[in-house]
Amino acid sequence: MSKLRTTVMGRKTTFKRKENEKNSPQRKRSCREQIKEELPRDLSIKENSYHSFKDLIEIHSIRTSLLSWYDKSKRELPWRRMAVTESDLNKRAYAVWVSEIMLQQTQVATVINYYNKWMQRWSTLQDLAKATLEEVNEMWSGLGYYSRGRRLHEGAQKVVSEFKGEMPKSAEELQKLLPGVGRYTAAAIASITFGQVTGVVDGNVIRVLCRSRAIGADSTSPAVTEGLWMLVNTLVDPVRPGDFNQAMMELGATVCTPKAPLCSECPLQTHCRAYRQVMKEREIVLKRLLGNATSKPSSTPDIEECGSCSLCLPDKESWDSGLGVMNFPRKPTKKPPRTERTLTCVVTRKKDTDDTEEYFLVQRPNLGLLAGMWEFPSILLEAELTEKKQKHIILDRLTELMGSSVTDTNLQRMGEVVHIFSHIHQTYHVYGNMLSDTTTDSVKQEETERPSFRWLTEAEFHQSAVSTAMKKVFRLFKHSSRNEKLFDKCDKQNHGSEKSGEERKRRKHKAPKDSGGRQLSMVSFFRSAAKEPL
Ligand code: ADE
Repeated sequence: MSKLRTTVMGRKTTFKRKENEKNSPQRKRSCREQIKEELPRDLSIKENSYHSFKDLIEIHSIRTSLLSWYDKSKRELPWRRMAVTESDLNKRAYAVWVSEIMLQQTQVATVINYYNKWMQRWSTLQDLAKATLEEVNEMWSGLGYYSRGRRLHEGAQKVVSEFKGEMPKSAEELQKLLPGVGRYTAAAIASITFGQVTGVVDGNVIRVLCRSRAIGADSTSPAVTEGLWMLVNTLVDPVRPGDFNQAMMELGATVCTPKAPLCSECPLQTHCRAYRQVMKEREIVLKRLLGNATSKPSSTPDIEECGSCSLCLPDKESWDSGLGVMNFPRKPTKKPPRTERTLTCVVTRKKDTDDTEEYFLVQRPNLGLLAGMWEFPSILLEAELTEKKQKHIILDRLTELMGSSVTDTNLQRMGEVVHIFSHIHQTYHVYGNMLSDTTTDSVKQEETERPSFRWLTEAEFHQSAVSTAMKKVFRLFKHSSRNEKLFDKCDKQNHGSEKSGEERKRRKHKAPKDSGGRQLSMVSFFRSAAKEPL
């Protein structure tokens, strides 16, 4: 075995090559080419001046332009105010930590309300540490990715119980010691709160970097990610690292956007290689139109500036003239989410005392997707089943949950709700079932092998730790129930008077002509309305 040794970002990396390959007659590539191919891309970025920041004057200019743009254009956001006005470093770090966790995978506009409510309720680490997980899940309800809230809660408890309320002060320690704090969050807290000179790489920063350095290699690959961290660590302003990082993210969120970027407003336009490529291409097209092109135009502009390395777009075909700077960053085609179907049943009863409706909710296990959240009884379907079979499964499940036989007198299909979790395309087949008093009387919580359950009024449901998917299910249920009542009302008016119980039953069980002999419930008439966005 021969070994080629090199240093990548301070790490020793060893590349092994089989001895017998070295002198193989089939080997056509030069040794230099081969080494280049074997090197991780982060080293290529470092070596390649077209795809990195080498010129100190340019680096200085980028920092200055970006920070002065940020000072003028930044959005007033509650956590930014806290990060500046709060003198207690632990409180400040906590405020930044909460915001950064909430901002992962969630838009700023959505986060603001959640953040304000959270900080009003738990303004310090100590307050959060005292909360229950149930309260945290309630507060997080609707924000998605619920493990984020759980980990934040665990982290606060750890800081209070193990570190006497003192937050770790460096990115390395934050990442090592706090649950749910990865490389990005650690660097963001450390730079914004403690002024540590470290860059951050999130989705917005990836876009800004890939466009400004025309990096067309798959931006999700570990090697390119590593290279981007290296680039941003070169670029970060040593005097205002927190502001610099927020400015990069702000630029990605408001100017260098995924679609319709506002290049004319960009403070980094003159440093942007993607923009230059687009301008060059336009120039070539224009020259061709005017008939004075000296050379054959290429569909991939600017090749001569780099020499088509592994960091450029992979081939000419990858360049889409219609996309402009949006040719960067390039993402691999995403694996489609897996498809699942779930039966879910909104079980209702009337309160004895005042006839208020109550809904039956069960708690999900403490591990896995939506851990500890409350939901309407739900069963994952293994295969497509007929409505009859679906009803059978639901009744079995309700009987199991409630400890007494549940009959199908009121079980009705209400429609479908689709909810996309990050990796699951979930379709809920929604049913409704109004229980009689006698059925609900026997529901007992003591039998411990059953999941915890509770009966909630509509107002209580909305205050509880329920997911957005369950809120959609509930909205469909209410919508369909309302339509059914409306239908009944119209029906009564059309028939002049209230029908007798017997007549109603007959009407309900008589299949309309176009139903193919199958009984259609009232809600079937409204199925299309119920499928509109909820
Ligand atoms: N996204 C995540 N954190 C951010 C921040 N501090 N400023 C702007 N966008 C962000």
